[in-house]
Amino acid sequence: MEKRCFGKTGLDVTILGYGAMELRHVDEAQAEKLLNAALDAGITFIDTAPDYGPSEDYIGQFIAHRRNEYILATKCGCNIPYPSGSDAPRHIWTGVQLRHNIEHSLRRLCTDYVDVWQIHSAYPQDLAGTDVLETMFKIQEEGKVRHIAVSMGGASEKYGYVQMRGYLDPVWDAFEAMQVWYSALVRYSEQAIREAARKGIGTIIRGATRRVDPWTSLEDACTQLNLDALRAPGESAAQFLLRFVVSHPDVHTIIVGTKNLDHIAENVTAVESGPLPADVLVEAKKRLDVAKGE
Ligand SMILES: NC(=O)c1ccc[n+]([C@@H]2O[C@H](COP(=O)([O-])OP(=O)(O)OC[C@H]3O[C@@H](n4cnc5c(N)ncnc54)[C@H](OP(=O)(O)O)[C@@H]3O)[C@@H](O)[C@H]2O)c1
Repeated sequence: MEKRCFGKTGLDVTILGYGAMELRHVDEAQAEKLLNAALDAGITFIDTAPDYGPSEDYIGQFIAHRRNEYILATKCGCNIPYPSGSDAPRHIWTGVQLRHNIEHSLRRLCTDYVDVWQIHSAYPQDLAGTDVLETMFKIQEEGKVRHIAVSMGGASEKYGYVQMRGYLDPVWDAFEAMQVWYSALVRYSEQAIREAARKGIGTIIRGATRRVDPWTSLEDACTQLNLDALRAPGESAAQFLLRFVVSHPDVHTIIVGTKNLDHIAENVTAVESGPLPADVLVEAKKRLDVAKGE
């Protein structure tokens, strides 16, 4: 599988990663199969978070013995264990909370270090005046994390775009990687991903096969956007959408979550087909712009 240079981190990452959030919805037996299938298929980047249910535990339980085969990304700031039924904040931006998170994550993941440690969903202003960054540096010096990063943005153009632009300010140059939403269906970050890569930031992409409207399947979304004729024979909508993201030269790893073993295989086949042909990509963007009224 293609590997791309992950910014200035010195790491090479597979173009397809595994997003382990979906492990919230599976039992132990299925989690063991999915995680090992991802590694067996050649995927070497796994993303999780303390607040994805048992996801970190499953990784520790089922693939820690293969630790040298994967780059492990998790997150911090998560208010776990979350007091159920309360209206407590989902995230807490203090050094004390981050210290709690890393010790807890390392125990659950059965490892001594995390490769990429990401702020989970904060806006730049949430971190202003806190000891978060200084604590991240300390924990990095202790060798518990290798690279510090930020994970942000939802599908919303309004908030996701503003958040990503905020983190491109030189004040945040300490972040070595950024996780951001980008897909054919949600393109607000297309230019900012280019700028991030130019600054030497590793780019982690999510949302490639995520439905924006939960009531519309990926197949129907492609039809509505007039993309079907651009698909190669036998190519599913998910595969086309994945190849669309592979076609962005500054995308480094695309973390796709799935609870389905067949979908892992399908996604691997898609990325191994490479980027979309140049003329197809141009036409797809034209049609997406038309659908959006641009
Ligand atoms: N703020 C944050 O930091 C944040 C927020 C959300 C997510 N994340 C991370 O990003 C990762 C990716 O998240 P995401 O938003 O891209 O989506 P996701 O929540 O991982 O879900 C991906 C969706 O795509 C579907 N899918 C995958 N392969 C497919 C295929 N070949 N055909 C049809 N459907 C397919 C999956 O369904 P099936 O299970 O049926 O395959 C699933 O519904 C997460 O796992 C998590 O690690 C981070």
